[in-house]
Amino acid sequence: MSGFTRDAHALVCDGVPVQAIAAETGTPVHVYSASVIDARYRQLDAALQAVPHRLHYAIKANATLAIVRRLRALGARADANSAGELEVALRAGFSPGDIVCTGVGKTREELARAIALGVAAINVESPGEVDRIEHLAAEARSIARVAVRINPDIDAGSHRHISTGHRATKFGMSVADATQMLRDMARRPWLKVTGLHLHIGSQITALEPFKRGAETLIALAESLADDGIRLEHIDLGGGLGIAYQANQPIVSVEEYAAVVMDAVRGTDLTVLLEPGRWITGPAGVLVTTVVDLKRRPDGGWFVVVDAGMTDLLRPALYDAWHTIEAVSPRPGEAIRADVVGPVCETSDTLGRDRALPPIEVGDLLAVRDTGAYGAAMASNYNRRPIAAEAIVDGGKWQIARRRQTIDDMLQWDA
Ligand code: LLP
Repeated sequence: MSGFTRDAHALVCDGVPVQAIAAETGTPVHVYSASVIDARYRQLDAALQAVPHRLHYAIKANATLAIVRRLRALGARADANSAGELEVALRAGFSPGDIVCTGVGKTREELARAIALGVAAINVESPGEVDRIEHLAAEARSIARVAVRINPDIDAGSHRHISTGHRATKFGMSVADATQMLRDMARRPWLKVTGLHLHIGSQITALEPFKRGAETLIALAESLADDGIRLEHIDLGGGLGIAYQANQPIVSVEEYAAVVMDAVRGTDLTVLLEPGRWITGPAGVLVTTVVDLKRRPDGGWFVVVDAGMTDLLRPALYDAWHTIEAVSPRPGEAIRADVVGPVCETSDTLGRDRALPPIEVGDLLAVRDTGAYGAAMASNYNRRPIAAEAIVDGGKWQIARRRQTIDDMLQWDA
């Protein structure tokens, strides 16, 4: 059986009992299923097969080398948002021509590195950035491949912290400003304008925002073509949501692909996507040990675990729901419990008022769908070491990243 399943009630990942991994690694530990990553990448790729496309995995979702390497082996390209992510892409074996560089606020050093490498596209965010790129490209005597990030003024409908496509956000440029800038860019010798880019948000669960975004880019590409500016690609970013709760309505990958394909059909543009969460989110669980049980004043329980907001920030930052299960559920009557971490903040709550089987100190819980924006957003707050990560592949598991030690954590201090 592949993915996360139950065997005689206990949670199993690709045939390996999660309990067996935790017994060796200790907790908290992120456990990833390679087969889930493979299956989801292939499903998205297959859904788009009718049009020329490239899937640039958004490294920010999970930047652990074993995961990024896996995606490269599957045929993905990469989307890097910082010098660190660019280095991850290179160390995972991507060639520069497979990498797009995105992000607001790329530093001069980051731009120079991207230009020297000759990445597939630098997604530019402002006229100032274009000037800096041109200057650096001229200095390096190397033509920079650039795409322009458009802000299409679309409300993606997801949490306001992760909706990036409406005009009040810091991301991209309006169609009007970008059009003018693109005409000017086409005349600059050290720039090669390759495409248009957008990313309107993350965890999007409706089709309409994707459709409107794609239509905006196509309309702009067509008007540029009328001016003699011919583009190679449109990059529709990431954003496809996943079901964190059973029966949560989401857009299917096939519906999403249909919108993407409709947009580019009849053009000679290659479509680029930057999926992150959809591929790796469901491929990971965070395994944690119960360290204390406290009564809530209303008669429920606080189940205190050894993972917290430093290991999974999403509930604290976005009020996000992650399903929480006992790894080996005990029989008996369900309890109501807040599952809380050890960090000194009330927001350090992984799940509020959940129904759980009877729990004892020492039991293992699994927090589901943590493969994206889980380990990637970890911090050392409260001087807590970063958790271990393990990946299961073909019935065998190995460490993907060892647990940080206290010495690792303190080594930069003077
Ligand atoms: N491309 C760009 C330019 C992005 O900024 C992002 C995500 C992606 C692609 C990938 O989006 P995805 O397919 O994963 O939705 N920490 C938040 C999510 C922040 C997303 C940031 N940008 C969370 O945990 O929900």
